[in-house]
Amino acid sequence: MKNKNILITALILCIAGSVRAADNVSALKAGEVIARNGTQAGATACIACHGTREEEPKTDSFPRLFNQSRYYIVNQLKDYATGVRANAVMGPIAKALTDEEKENVAAYYSEILFPSPKVKKASAVVLKRGEVLAMTGDAKLEIQGCNNCHGPGGVGLAPAIPALAGQYANYTESQLKAWKNGTRKNSSSQMLEIAKKLSDKDIQALALYFQQVPVRTEKKSVTK
Ligand code: HEC
Ligand code: HEC
Repeated sequence: MKNKNILITALILCIAGSVRAADNVSALKAGEVIARNGTQAGATACIACHGTREEEPKTDSFPRLFNQSRYYIVNQLKDYATGVRANAVMGPIAKALTDEEKENVAAYYSEILFPSPKVKKASAVVLKRGEVLAMTGDAKLEIQGCNNCHGPGGVGLAPAIPALAGQYANYTESQLKAWKNGTRKNSSSQMLEIAKKLSDKDIQALALYFQQVPVRTEKKSVTK
C-alpha cells in the first residue's frame, strides 16, 4: 500500500514536471515570435536591435540580453513601461507588451547563451584598474567590489542581479552614467550610491574590463 502511494506520488510529480516543461516550451516559442515579429499592439521586433540565437546585436549601441535572467528582463520591461527607467526607445515598446508577452519574450532571450563579443583590447593599465574595482573595490572611494553582488567573474546572480560579463562597454558605461544623471532610478539606493562615487575614467575602465570577461556557459533554467 505504502509503495503504491509512493508510486502515485512519483507519477503526479512527473506529470506536474512535464506540464511545467511544456509551459516553458510554449513560452519560449511565443517569445521567439514576439522577438522576431513584434506584436500587433505595436511592440517592434526585438531582433532588429537585440539579436537572435544565431546573431549578436548589429551594433554595440544595443545591450546584449543574452545571459540575463528571465526575472531581470521582465523587471526591466516593467520599469521602462512605468518610466522608473526612462528611455525613449524602450518606453513605448515595453508599454505595448502585456505582462504575459513580457514573460514570454524574456524566456526567449534568457535561454540564449552567447560567448563574449569579439572586441579590440583596451590598454593593460585600463583593464587592470577595471579588474581591481570589480574584484576588490576601492577603500578610498568607499566602494566595494562589483562582483560581491554581481557574482564571481561578473556572471550575475540570478534572479535579481544582472550579468556584466560580456556586455558591451558602450552600454555598461551608459547605464552607470544614467544612474549618475538620474534617468535610471531602479535599484536606486544600491547602484546610484556606487555610480555617484565613480569618475568617468573609472566608469570607462569598468565597462572595458567587463566587456572582455568570459560569460557563463552552463545551461540555465528558463524558470529563473
Ligand atoms: C530600435 C531598437 C530596439 C528595439 C526594437 C528593442 N530594443 Fe530593447 N533596448 C534598446 C536600447 C537602445 C536599450 C538601452 C536603453 C537604455 O539605455 O536604458 C534597450 C534595452 C533593453 C533592455 C534592458 C537590458 C538590460 O540589461 O537592462 C531590455 C530588457 C530590452 N531592451 C528588451 C527588449 C525587448 C523584449 C524588445 C522587443 C519586444 C526590445 N527590447 C526591442 C533598443 C531596442
Ligand atoms: C550592493 C550590490 C551591488 C554592487 C556592489 C554593485 N551592483 Fe551593480 N547592480 C546591482 C543591482 C541590484 C542591479 C540591478 C538593478 C535593477 O534591477 O535595475 C545592478 C545593475 C547594474 C548594472 C546594469 C546592468 C544592465 O544590464 O543594465 C550595471 C552596469 C552595474 N550594476 C554595474 C556595477 C558596477 C560596475 C559595480 C562596481 C563598481 C556594481 N555594479 C556594484 C547591485 C550591485
